Amino acid sequence: MKVMVVFGTRPEAIKMAPVVKALRARPERFTVRVAVTGQHREMLDQVLDFFQLTPDYDLGIMRHGQSLSDITCRVLKGLEGIIGEEKPEIVLVHGDTTTTFAGSLAAFYQRVSVGHVEAGLRSHDPYNPFPEEMNRRLTGALAALHFAPTDRAAENLRREGVPDSRIFVTGNTVIDALLGAVSEDYVFQDPVLKDLNFQDERVILLTTHRRENWGQPMERIFSAVRQLVASFPDVRVIFPVHKNPRIREAAGRAFAGLSRVNLIEPPGYEEFANLMARVYLLLTDSGGLQEEAPSLGKPVLVLRETTERPEGIEAGTNLLVGTDPQRIAAETTRLLTDKEAYRKMAEAPNPFGDGRAAERIADILWQERKR
Ligand code: UD1
Repeated sequence: MKVMVVFGTRPEAIKMAPVVKALRARPERFTVRVAVTGQHREMLDQVLDFFQLTPDYDLGIMRHGQSLSDITCRVLKGLEGIIGEEKPEIVLVHGDTTTTFAGSLAAFYQRVSVGHVEAGLRSHDPYNPFPEEMNRRLTGALAALHFAPTDRAAENLRREGVPDSRIFVTGNTVIDALLGAVSEDYVFQDPVLKDLNFQDERVILLTTHRRENWGQPMERIFSAVRQLVASFPDVRVIFPVHKNPRIREAAGRAFAGLSRVNLIEPPGYEEFANLMARVYLLLTDSGGLQEEAPSLGKPVLVLRETTERPEGIEAGTNLLVGTDPQRIAAETTRLLTDKEAYRKMAEAPNPFGDGRAAERIADILWQERKR
């Protein structure tokens, strides 16, 4: 069976690497082609290096300040010839980026089936997260096989009319990737991370990059962080700043001169996973971190108004705090001062998977090949 795996951004690469590995481990069954769109450049390449993945095709579409239409058009046009020539039996896409949606559409135009990994997540608000919620729904409409990470995601698909026989609950491949990356004796490369003292200081990991948080919401998040650092002398904030220039500029301005807020370059995946494993808690608007941190026993305060990953909230390991600075500061303060509240969040079980999702996906692809 010839399978083409398409991805373009850092998180897709992390979550698809285990799938590529599982397919390549079964060469008697699968021929695998990896096509990256290069929607991200540096951030994608770091992940490819870590997982020792060499793409067969690289569209190299990234431009600074790219718009959503730029990405969509370049992915669609770039994949047309590749899918047409390779004629895979199925194209696998992941999640909710513009690469995901445009990659599915490109496959559909060539009458090639689409398998959607991490299918069925919904916030039910088309503008939150934007454009990811719509990317997932549109990809779901195009897909023939839906690999849902959880029962809830499967239920979302059923409610939209996807036949039960097309939905498979596999767990999330992010856990497969994570379990291979964290180790106790890991030595950090980044000069700031290398010098951290996790015994004497409580380190908070901050990440924010989502479009709906650009501008005022992000300013509010930054003001809460300044407040927290001023109130707790043993708290240090590490903020790996996304490569997007809009975010870089805002972050530089907000934290200038604060010695206990460190802005660092986005670390490689292994470095990031090991950082996550050692911090006290996370403040983030990322989707993937809501899945990863619970596996490492770290509370996550989610800097968004909605989440398509309510499983973490229900399990008690994640808490939705939005972007109101008072709320962010209050909830973080609670976790910094109330040991029992911290323990409850840190010890809640991870609802996102057991580290065997990619193997399941490979088995299902084989089993469904004739249908
Ligand atoms: C994209 C995805 C988002 C995902 C995120 C993970 C879309 C619409 N958004 O958002 O769902 O959560 O990736 O990070 O698909 N840049 C670089 N080097 C890089 C990466 C980005 O310079 O390696 C800069 C470029 O100037 C680029 C900008 O960041 O124009 C924005 O990148 P883009 O892929 O358009 O959106 P993200 O915010 O990264």
